[in-house]
Amino acid sequence: MDQFLITGRSRIAGEVSISGAKNAALPLLAAMILAETPTTLRNVPSLQDVRTLIKLISGMGIDVQKEGNTVTCDTSSIANYFAPYELVKTMRASILVLGPLLARFGEAEVSLPGGCAIGSRPVDQHLKAFAALGAHITVENGYVKAKAPKGGRLIGCEFTFDMVTVGGTENVIIAATLAKGTTVLENCAREPEVVDLANMLVAMGAKISGIGTSIMTIEGVDSLKGCDYSVVADRIETGSYLAGALMTGGDVLTKNTNPNLLHPVLKKFEEMGAIITTGDDWIRAQMHGRPKPVDIRTQPHPGFPTDMQAQLMAVCCLADGTSTIIENIFENRYMHVPELKRLGANIKVDGHTAIIRGVDSFNSAPVMATDLRASMSLVMAAAAAEGQSVIDRIYHIDRGYENVEEKLRGLGVTIERINPNKPHKP
Ligand code: UD1
Repeated sequence: MDQFLITGRSRIAGEVSISGAKNAALPLLAAMILAETPTTLRNVPSLQDVRTLIKLISGMGIDVQKEGNTVTCDTSSIANYFAPYELVKTMRASILVLGPLLARFGEAEVSLPGGCAIGSRPVDQHLKAFAALGAHITVENGYVKAKAPKGGRLIGCEFTFDMVTVGGTENVIIAATLAKGTTVLENCAREPEVVDLANMLVAMGAKISGIGTSIMTIEGVDSLKGCDYSVVADRIETGSYLAGALMTGGDVLTKNTNPNLLHPVLKKFEEMGAIITTGDDWIRAQMHGRPKPVDIRTQPHPGFPTDMQAQLMAVCCLADGTSTIIENIFENRYMHVPELKRLGANIKVDGHTAIIRGVDSFNSAPVMATDLRASMSLVMAAAAAEGQSVIDRIYHIDRGYENVEEKLRGLGVTIERINPNKPHKP
């Protein structure tokens, strides 16, 4: 298993180009299943999760090709509506194929995603909404079997999500596009990735209003066509690299991004003492001295994103004072805490609350990446630390950060990918 060897005391500074958002690319790839004519998707990041979803869709007989950052998809050869456990278990977002299969072909059989490191993360809201759209849902032997009502078409309905769910909102708007009649969804997620999906569905011929608000209305259409669409910039990747500047008194310019997607994060960065400047498609963070402590609670968009919690915590670890973080979205999203402590952080966790007393510097240590975003917090902390650190289980980071070593090197980080089973050349 690959590891990162990071030699610390870097000042993270320079320019970095931001990739398309993983969390937008996945629902957009799933939505391609809806189109009767070929679709082209651009700015798709080359990541493990993207490869997994393409494999899943290809397994249905659909012709999906990825060349560079462009994916083309022709659904005319679809042969089955099945998503096997072997692939779904590696990526929870695979459940997003359920909505388009059910909407277009009237049936689907998709493995339940099962547990995951950051909490139990059920899909009950997805299934409840599909049932409200008239689908017959059963769960047998770990598989969700879904069938549209007689006639093979879902039926528009009014549905209110019990909690704000990003994946749930995405799966259900996808399904409602081809339903008979009008669907009104309340308490929808408003994340930029949901908006990106809705915009692509409109480009395919869907009729959706209320995009970007918590109430969306979808007027079902008979069919959808392919389109040519480009994935929105990754706001979490953007925030992660900017956080590196805050931790190391650095100066990072992120390009090909969108400042409008990051307001809650940039506000916190400013509160911590960073000078933030922005243009239409770039954000720069300049930092002098130690960060100031802050209080953060993660919330659905437009609140502070849970996917930036670990990276912000790493910055708080070096702050001049005590910070508090409350994680409201996931029940078990503090697995990076023991690892940050190994690097010298002073953190106490009580339920959903973490209290972080700032220390002067991190020390080096061997640490283990525990989930996708947590792994970035460790990489940044190791880059700031005194000495050499080894980060294990970096397959987590490969799931969500495109060309991560190359981009970090461009920002002045001394990082090498090593494999403990192969001899290492210094
Ligand atoms: C998406 C993102 C993930 C991000 C999360 C919250 C993708 C591929 N992943 O995950 O990076 O951290 O949004 O912003 O876009 N829940 C239920 N029942 C459901 C659905 C969700 O109880 O049917 C709960 C979850 O357990 C969690 C909360 O709702 O506690 C939010 O989950 P959700 O917004 O659905 O996250 P994902 O879409 O899985």
